[in-house]
Amino acid sequence: MSPERQVVELELGHGRGSRIEIGRGLLGELDLPDAAALIVDGQVLALHSERLPPSWGPPRIGLPAGEDAKRWGVLGSTLEALAEAGLDRGDRIAVVGGGAACDLGGLAAALYLRGVSWIACPTTLLAMIDASVGGKTAVDLGQGKNLAGAFWQPGQVLADIDFLATLPPEELRSGLGEATKTAMIAGGPLFQLLESGAQALLAGDPAATTALIAECVRTKSEVVASDEFESGGRAVLNLGHTFAHAAERVAGFGRLPHGVCVAAGLGAALELAGHLWILEDADLPGRTARLARELGLPAGLRELREMSGLDLNAEALRAAMGQDKKRRGGGLRFVLPRGLGRVEHGIEVDERSLAQVLA
Ligand SMILES: NC(=O)c1ccc[n+]([C@@H]2O[C@H](COP(=O)([O-])OP(=O)(O)OC[C@H]3O[C@@H](n4cnc5c(N)ncnc54)[C@H](O)[C@@H]3O)[C@@H](O)[C@H]2O)c1
Ligand SMILES: [Zn+2]
Repeated sequence: MSPERQVVELELGHGRGSRIEIGRGLLGELDLPDAAALIVDGQVLALHSERLPPSWGPPRIGLPAGEDAKRWGVLGSTLEALAEAGLDRGDRIAVVGGGAACDLGGLAAALYLRGVSWIACPTTLLAMIDASVGGKTAVDLGQGKNLAGAFWQPGQVLADIDFLATLPPEELRSGLGEATKTAMIAGGPLFQLLESGAQALLAGDPAATTALIAECVRTKSEVVASDEFESGGRAVLNLGHTFAHAAERVAGFGRLPHGVCVAAGLGAALELAGHLWILEDADLPGRTARLARELGLPAGLRELREMSGLDLNAEALRAAMGQDKKRRGGGLRFVLPRGLGRVEHGIEVDERSLAQVLA
């Protein structure tokens, strides 16, 4: 297989799972499956309409760009458009866009006629690495992000990296932030791939990009296959995310790219692990900070404050976390790294250590 084309199989038993293809020009191929409807991010439709296979749709349902798609009203109108077009249970839906479009389109596929099959075509690096894999779908509610959703696996994921040519640099870095999280979970080789490939990845080199996505997807697939419905181990994928979600919430959702906040959250998680004396790899914080700087990402909450110019103060962040944590009840528990490839969930954290990290 060419280094610029890779396939990863996510197998979940009972015939379920995803065939994940990564490479250039995937959507221009002749043997693509037909789709009776296309759900697509409006911005991607404007930039890439010529890339979309003619056998996908009508209907072609354009969504508001980005996070604005993940709304109850948009879900309703999308389902009504599918019904209006008369799709039946044997039909397949293709979803094209970033993580937001994949979350909305996947949920529409899960709900329409109690579930039809779907193809995910992620168009951001973050969605290729993370959001399109694993079957979590959702919309946001007034009370918070991703509060209503379903587990519904796409049968196929086509990560056509040609879409990335139009991605704004900040969204590219956001994907690299999420990739750093995955690398910390995976361990050495993936982390080294980021360290040695940072400049090539920032420049959009196709071979480096394909290799990174494939390795991240392999790691995520292994974690998902071991705990599809997040009753335990899948929680490690939330490394850095308690901090990231708090920063996103305080900034106002959609204001800071998710993966940029995740990069800051990784720095914070390492610092917290240090305060709790559970960090076994003393070099990891410095190494991670160097990588973040090389990728143009914040190495912690202080850098995120400086880079964004936003007042993400400790009290507001702690209050925002409370909303995240309350649902789970009980004390504070975090996903934290002990070292590269040694990430654990459910680690109890005391308020004093947390306050030191948020300060
Ligand atoms: N389901 C999961 O497992 C999972 C995992 C991680 C994140 N997510 C979700 O994913 C969302 C974030 O996804 P995202 O980072 O991909 O952002 P996004 O989908 O919001 O897209 C970011 C911006 O990039 C634009 N865009 C998309 N593709 C483009 C392209 N090829 N060229 C130019 N512009 C393009 C969009 O219109 C949008 O304005 C969040 O809602 C998050 O909750 C879900
Ligand atoms: Zn994330």
